[in-house]
Amino acid sequence: MTSQTTTGTPDATDSVEEVLDVQAPEAEGPTVASAEENEKSHRSTPRSAAFRAFIAQGWGPAPAEDLTAGSAAPFAARRREVLSSLFPGEVLVVPAGSLVRRSNDTDYRFRPHSAFAHLTGLGTDREADAVLVLHPREQGHEAVLYVRPQGSRESEEFFADARYGELWVGPRPSLTALAAQTGITCHDVAALADELGAGLEQAKGSRLLADADPAVTTLVAPLRGDVPEHADDEFVTALSELRLVKDAYEIGQLREAVAASARGFEQVVRSLPQAVGHPRGERVVEAAFDGNARVDGNGVGYETISAAGDHACTLHWIRNDGPISAGQLLLVDAGVEVDSLYTADVTRTLPVDGTFSDAQRRVYQAVLDAADAAFAVARPGVKFREVHEAAMKVVADRLSAWGMLPVDAATSLEPEGQYHRRWMPHGTSHHLGLDVHDCAQARREMYLEAELREGMVFTIEPGIYIKSEDELAPAELRGIGVRIEDDVLVTADGVENLTAALPRDPDAVEAWMASLR
Ligand code: GLY
Ligand code: MN
Ligand code: MN
Repeated sequence: MTSQTTTGTPDATDSVEEVLDVQAPEAEGPTVASAEENEKSHRSTPRSAAFRAFIAQGWGPAPAEDLTAGSAAPFAARRREVLSSLFPGEVLVVPAGSLVRRSNDTDYRFRPHSAFAHLTGLGTDREADAVLVLHPREQGHEAVLYVRPQGSRESEEFFADARYGELWVGPRPSLTALAAQTGITCHDVAALADELGAGLEQAKGSRLLADADPAVTTLVAPLRGDVPEHADDEFVTALSELRLVKDAYEIGQLREAVAASARGFEQVVRSLPQAVGHPRGERVVEAAFDGNARVDGNGVGYETISAAGDHACTLHWIRNDGPISAGQLLLVDAGVEVDSLYTADVTRTLPVDGTFSDAQRRVYQAVLDAADAAFAVARPGVKFREVHEAAMKVVADRLSAWGMLPVDAATSLEPEGQYHRRWMPHGTSHHLGLDVHDCAQARREMYLEAELREGMVFTIEPGIYIKSEDELAPAELRGIGVRIEDDVLVTADGVENLTAALPRDPDAVEAWMASLR
C-alpha cells in the first residue's frame, strides 16, 4: 500500500519538535500533509470541515487494553536497579529510537534499541520515540518512561498520518496500559524536555545513550551543559556489560528462540527438493527459514546466510541468489528472533543430497572436532579467549595435516604466525542475546579476557572455508566451506548446548535429513 498522506519532508519526523508536537491532538503534526501540499502534489487527503467533523464522530469505546504486567517486567526492574547502582546521582537517558526510513516515505518495521528493550522489557515494535529516564533520587533512581500517547480521534493524526495515525498503523497504548505492562511510570513525551531540564539542574551528572535517537540527543544537549569526555562512552559500555550474564527470563527467551530456529532448520531441509535446480535455490532456502521465523517469532535476528558450494566461503553471504546443485554442501546460518527480541544464531552445513562425500566429510569432521574441543574447555573460570584457542588448535593441526600451512601447526598458532586463520578469519565465539553479537561494547577485559560465568550465553562456531580457486589447498577440498554454530549456556560446572536438538555429528545429520524427506 502506498501512503497518500505523508509529508514530503523526509526528515520531518527526526526533529525534536515533531516528537514533542504529537501531544496536541488538534495540532497538525509535520507528518501530515498541509492543504497547500495537497494542492501541489498527488495527495488527496480530505480536508473539508464536514469531513473532519464526520470522521471524528461515531466511534464507540476502543477495545479494552491489556493491563497485565509483562513477564519481563520484574527482571527489567532488577536490571534498572543494577544500572542505578553504577551511576548514583546521575540522570540516565535511554531512548528507544525512532522510526527509520527505508526509502522515500516508507519506514522499516520499528525495532527498539536493545538497551531500551533490556531495561523496559518491551519487545517487538515497541515503542517508537519513547525515552526511558532514570531520575536520581535520594536512594537510587526513579524510572519514568516518556512515550508518545495515542492521538485522539479528533486529531488529524488519527486519519491522515501514515506514520503514526491509528487508521494507518494501529493504536498505541495509553500511558495507563503501558505503565501496567512495564511497571514503569509513564509520562507524555511532550513533558520530556521540562522534566529533564528540571532534573538535570539538581543532578550530579548525566549519561545518554546518544546513538539511539538523534532527536533526543539534540533535545538533551543544551539541557546537559558540559558533559565530561567519555561520560556517554562509559554509559554505552555499562549498558553492554549489564547484559553479559543472562537472567532466568532471558535464558527462557533464548531457549524459545533456539526452539523456533530448530523448527526453521527443519523447514530448510524440507525446502531442499524445491531448491535444488531452482535458479535461485539459495533464496528458496532463505524464504523457508525466514517465513517460519516471521510466523514463529518476530522475524530473523540477522539476515539469513544461505550459501551453497563456494558461496559458503563468503562469510556473510546474504545475497543468497545462487542455485543449489546436487553434490554440494549448503551452509545455512540463521536464527529466529522471538517477540522479546532475543535471538538464536545457528549454523548447520548440510549435504544437499543428504550424504556427505568423503572430501566434504573430512572438512566437516575437522570443524566438528574444533567445536568439540571448544565445548570441552568451556566452563566457569575459563577465559573466553581460551575457548577460541582450543578450537584454533584443532583447525591448525588439521590444516597442517592436509599440507596447507607453510609452517608447523605449533608455529602457526604463535601470535606472530596465525597462518591457519587464512581459512577461518572470524572468531570462534561471541555473546548472544538481544543482539546477535551481544554486549559488543563491553571492554576487552570483560569480554575476550574475562572468565566465563554461569548465565553467560555465547556461540561456538568454528569453520573452515576453502575457496574454489585456493591453490594452497588439495584439489579435492577446494570449494568446500563448513561452519557449525551452536549456542551455549554456561552452567555451574560446564556448558549446556542449547542447540543440541539440531544434529551436528555427520551421521546424525544424514539420518535427520533422511527423516525429514
Ligand atoms: N550469523 C553471524 C554470526 O554467526 O556471527
Ligand atoms: Mn555467530
Ligand atoms: Mn551465525
